[in-house]
Amino acid sequence: MIKQAIIPLAGQGTRLLPLTSVFPKELLPINGKPAIEYILDECIKSGIKEIILIISKRKNIIKKYFYNDVFYKNLIKKNKNDKKLKFEYSKIKKYKKMIKFVYQNSPRGTGDAVLKCKNLIKSKYFLMLMPDDLIINSNCSASLVKLHNRYKSPIIASKKVNKKDVSRWGIFDIKKINKKDFIIKDVIEKPSIKSAPSNYAVIGRYVLPKIIFKVLKKQRPGQNGEIHITDAIRFLLHKKNKFIGHIFAGKYLDCGTMKGYINSSIEISKL
Ligand code: G1P
Repeated sequence: MIKQAIIPLAGQGTRLLPLTSVFPKELLPINGKPAIEYILDECIKSGIKEIILIISKRKNIIKKYFYNDVFYKNLIKKNKNDKKLKFEYSKIKKYKKMIKFVYQNSPRGTGDAVLKCKNLIKSKYFLMLMPDDLIINSNCSASLVKLHNRYKSPIIASKKVNKKDVSRWGIFDIKKINKKDFIIKDVIEKPSIKSAPSNYAVIGRYVLPKIIFKVLKKQRPGQNGEIHITDAIRFLLHKKNKFIGHIFAGKYLDCGTMKGYINSSIEISKL
C-alpha cells in the first residue's frame, strides 16, 4: 500500500515573478485557499498518511504556516465562540500531524529534491506530486494508487498536449494498453518539437519505486545543470523496469504561470 507522498516545494518559482521573489507560490491563494492545501487534500483523500514537504530555508514560512499554534491559541482565547477560527486551527493541526519537512537549499532539480527523502521512505513505492499541477473534478492521486495496485508497477499521470508546446514538458514514447493506460517505452525531458517521441506529456503525479534513490544518487546533472527525475525514470526504463502511463480524468490547471494561476481561481470558483 502507498502511504507516503513527497512534494517538492523548493523551486524558485521564476515563472511567477515578481511575487515569488519574496513569497512562496505554494501559499498564494487559489480561490481563497493556499495552493498547497489543494494538493494536501488530494493526498489525504487518496489514503496517504504521511506527506514529506521539501522546502528551502528561503521558504521557511511554509513551515511556519503549519506551526503557528501560539498565534491561533492566543486568538481563540480572546474569541472563544469564533467557529471559523476554531475550524481553521483544527484544519491546520490535522495537516501538521501528517507533514514532515526536509530541506533542499540549492535548487539542483526535482531529482535532487526527491533524493533528500531517501531515508524517510519506508515502503517499496511512494507518491510524488508537483505543486504547480492542479487537477480538479477527479482525484488523480487516488486513481494512480488504484492503478498501481492493479499493475503492481510505477505509474505516471499523463495528458495529451499541443505539439507546439512539447518543450515545456517531459514527453513519453508510448505503447497503448487501452484508451487510458499505456506502457511507457521512453521519456525525454523537455524535448524540441523535432525530437519529441509523441505529444503525451508527464503531468506531476507519480507513483515511484524506492529503487529510484539508487539511480538518483549516481545521476549526473542533465538539462540546465539540474538532476531531473525524468532522467532517473529514463534510466530505469532502459534497464527494463516497467512503468505505466495513465491519461487521467479531470481537468488540468497549470498554477506555475501567472495566466494559469489566475485561471485556476476562476475555474475553482465555479465548482
Ligand atoms: C516538471 C517535470 C516535467 C513535467 C512537469 C509537469 O517540470 O520535470 O517532466 O512534465 O513537471 O508539470 P517543471 O514544471 O518543473 O519544469
